[in-house]
Amino acid sequence: MDDRLIGVALLGSTGSIGTQTLDIARRFPDRIKIVALSAHKSTELLKSQIEEFNPKFFNCSSLSEQLKNELTGQTKHCSYEDMVTDKDVDLVVTATVGDVALIPTIHALKAGKNVALANKESIVMAGEMLMKIASDNNCMIFPVDSEPNAIWQCLRGEDKSVSRLFITASGGAMRGMTDSEKMKITPERALKHPTWTMGPKITIDSATLMNKAFEVIEAKWLFAVDWDQIEVVIHPESMIHSMVEFNDGSVKAQISPPDMKLPIQYALLYPDRVFNEDLARFNPVRLGSLNFESVDFNQYPCFSVGLEYGSKVGTSPAVLCGADEMAVESFLNGTISFYDIPTVIKEALQASNNEDAKTPQEYLNAANWGRSKVKEIINHK
Ligand SMILES: NC(=O)c1ccc[n+]([C@@H]2O[C@H](COP(=O)([O-])OP(=O)(O)OC[C@H]3O[C@@H](n4cnc5c(N)ncnc54)[C@H](OP(=O)(O)O)[C@@H]3O)[C@@H](O)[C@H]2O)c1
Repeated sequence: MDDRLIGVALLGSTGSIGTQTLDIARRFPDRIKIVALSAHKSTELLKSQIEEFNPKFFNCSSLSEQLKNELTGQTKHCSYEDMVTDKDVDLVVTATVGDVALIPTIHALKAGKNVALANKESIVMAGEMLMKIASDNNCMIFPVDSEPNAIWQCLRGEDKSVSRLFITASGGAMRGMTDSEKMKITPERALKHPTWTMGPKITIDSATLMNKAFEVIEAKWLFAVDWDQIEVVIHPESMIHSMVEFNDGSVKAQISPPDMKLPIQYALLYPDRVFNEDLARFNPVRLGSLNFESVDFNQYPCFSVGLEYGSKVGTSPAVLCGADEMAVESFLNGTISFYDIPTVIKEALQASNNEDAKTPQEYLNAANWGRSKVKEIINHK
C-alpha cells in the first residue's frame, strides 16, 4: 500500500461514530482504506457499507449463517481477532458501545496496531492494562472522544510541563431543569442533546454526567496525570472541547463547532491536519460569548458515583460500566425513571468488592456482575 494510505479496521461501523468515520473515509479515499467493518444488529446498513467500501473482512455478531454466506462475496466474515491483527490494518477504530471492544483492542495493541479509541468504556474498565500493553508493544492509543482528543491536540509540541487539564461538559439535556421537571423526563426527551448528536447510551450518560466521569478516568490514563490535576467545567456552548494549563500558567484550548467528524479525522489522519469542506468553522463574533460554570454535584449524582468508583484501581470501574449500562438500558426501555439511574448504580457499587484484576476476562466478569446486580435491584423494587 501507498505509505500515506492507512488501512482501517472499524468496529461498530453502523453507529454514530462508525458512520461518521465512514464519512471521513469517503472524503479521503486516497488516505483511508477500509479493510474491515463490524456491526451488531443493523445488518442492512452493514450490507450497504460492505458494497460501498468492499472491505477484506466483516464481522456481524447477530447474523445467521445463511446471511453470512449471502454477504460474503469478496468480503470474508472473520473474528475480531483476525480482523484487527490483519497485515493490511494500520489503525483500529473502536466505535462499539459497551465492553465488546475490550478484547479486540487488546489483540490490536499486542499486534502493534495503533488504536483510535472512541469506546471509552474499555479504557474506563481496564485503563492501566491497556496503557501498559500499548507501551510494551510500541503503539499508540489515539483518543477520538472530543474532550481527550482536544487535550491531545493541545499537548502537541509541548513537553510534559502540564499543571491542569480542564474537561468541558455541555451539562446535557436536563441542564437547568427543576427536580419536578426531571421527574417527568421521558426517554425521548432525554435523548435530545442540546449540542451533540450521538448514540442513545452516551446521550443519556451525558445527561447524567456519568459520561464526564468516564472522560476524567479516560484522561487520567491517556495523559498520565493525577486525579487532582483534572477539573470539569460546564460550558454550555460546547465550543471549547478541553483546555490544558501549563506550569507557567498559560492555557491552551481546542475550539471548534461541536462535530465529532473533526476529532475522528484528526485521529485517522494524525499527524496531518487536512482541509475538509464538511467541517463547519468557528466564528467568534457570531458566537459572542463563551460561558463556564462549576459542576453542581447535587444536580448530577452520577458524576459523584462515577468519580468515586471509577477512580479506584481494580474491578470497581468495570462494575461501574456494567451497572451504568444496565441502568441506562432500563431507563430507555421504561423500566425505571431518570431519577432512579444514580440510585440503582450506587446500590450495585455499594454491594460490590473492589478486587484486583489480572486478566481482561476478570474485567468483563466484573462488568457482567454490575449489569446483573442492577437488574436484580430493579426487579426487587
Ligand atoms: N457518538 C458520539 O458522538 C461519541 C462521542 C465520543 C465517544 N463515543 C463513544 O463511542 C462508542 C460508540 O458510541 P456511538 O454513540 O457511536 O454508539 P451507537 O450509535 O449506539 O453505535 C454502537 C455501535 O456498536 C455496535 N454494537 C452494539 N452492540 C454490539 C455488540 N453487542 N456487539 C458488537 N457490536 C455492537 C452497533 O451495531 P448495530 O448498530 O449494528 O447494532 C453500532 O455499530 C461509545 O463507547 C461512546 O461512549 C461516542
